[in-house]
Amino acid sequence: MSAPVIPGLDGVLAGDSAICEVDHEGGGLRYRGYSIEDLSAQASFEEVAFLLLFGTLPNQKDLNTFQDALVAARSVPAYVLDFLAAIPESVNRMDALRTAVSILGLDDPDTGSNAHAANLRKAVRLCAQLPALLGALANPSEEKNTKPPEEGPRGHAEYLLSLLGQEAPEALSIKVIDVSLILYAEHEFNASTFAARVTASSMSDFHSAVTSAIGTLKGPLHGGANEAVMAMLLNIEAEGDVQRYLSERLAKKEKIMGFGHRVLRKGDPRSDIIKGHAKSLGEARGELKWASLSAEIEETMLREKGLYPNLDFYSASAYYLLGLPISIYTPLFVCSRITGWAAHIMEQHDSNRLIRPRCRYTGEGPRPFPPLAGRA
Ligand SMILES: CC(C)(COP(=O)(O)OP(=O)(O)OC[C@H]1O[C@@H](n2cnc3c(N)ncnc32)[C@H](O)[C@@H]1OP(=O)(O)O)[C@@H](O)C(=O)NCCC(=O)NCCS
Repeated sequence: MSAPVIPGLDGVLAGDSAICEVDHEGGGLRYRGYSIEDLSAQASFEEVAFLLLFGTLPNQKDLNTFQDALVAARSVPAYVLDFLAAIPESVNRMDALRTAVSILGLDDPDTGSNAHAANLRKAVRLCAQLPALLGALANPSEEKNTKPPEEGPRGHAEYLLSLLGQEAPEALSIKVIDVSLILYAEHEFNASTFAARVTASSMSDFHSAVTSAIGTLKGPLHGGANEAVMAMLLNIEAEGDVQRYLSERLAKKEKIMGFGHRVLRKGDPRSDIIKGHAKSLGEARGELKWASLSAEIEETMLREKGLYPNLDFYSASAYYLLGLPISIYTPLFVCSRITGWAAHIMEQHDSNRLIRPRCRYTGEGPRPFPPLAGRA
């Protein structure tokens, strides 16, 4: 084949989608035409989830019905919670979550159908069930994991916090989680979404596609970056010298987590939004060191490498200030991105063609086969 190979498919248009627009020139990000600034300031996560899944913003009646459906679908079979309680706590939480979601697919009532309506029901169920999995990942043997989920708060963000041990959280905490869920919900053909679409394109099922996506999101170049950022911030704080930490790593050509983006080369609009919320949290908690440490890293990275922070950079310190365990930062991303993945799986199934690119072969040319006895 003579076509040029584009490493990492950088800039390649791999399909059509009506879900999310990433305007890399103007730096804008829109879900179905609505700016991320408007959505994060004026909508709730449930409104955004509805927008992504159903294609339009809900009116009040739609929203009530959707929230009722989410609340009704929250419970997770006991054997899935037993599985999470049985595995060692040292198991990576994304590995555990990937397997738990795969198990959930085994007896989903719609598992045999890829029809749009069936996929939609699976999407709503999984979106509703993920918080219970997150709670079990954070505290595998806690008794509250088996409490009837309808007794939890109605709002998705507050419900999530309650499962992470925060009963009656303050309004600011709920707002930060809600905004974070909105910002993480969708980002067109990112690696995990593309993995989901590749799986869906073989007409495999919804849970298989989501399982592929979770495995892909785990990596530190993608969703795993938010946990890696917090580990880095804690290291820098312990060492006490930002400039030395960064210059040593940049000299060795190491990646600084939470910086750079394949598409958003001129800055990530989501970063500015979560940065403001992380700052408000720090002020409210009287803990300003993460904001000043992060600002110094941001200035240095722009000066030295011309790189901007991405969403993961300030999400990490926001989650830390909320008191969330670092090992569940990326699983929390899953609780949000499930909506974007689901929208893409449905879009793929509804207008499918198998995704099957080519490679440029770089191995040996044709050669004679040597019989086993004659090989050196
Ligand atoms: C997101 C990411 C994978 C995009 O990668 P990419 O588009 O393939 O960009 P490249 O790796 O080709 O980087 C281009 C240049 O910028 C540098 N660079 C990119 N991100 C960097 C980072 N976070 N820290 C230091 N240098 C970085 C590369 O070393 C390379 O430099 P060079 O031209 O001197 O070799 C990359 O920026 C990264 O690894 N970031 C850190 C992980 C992260 O935060 N991921 C979450 C993404 S939302």
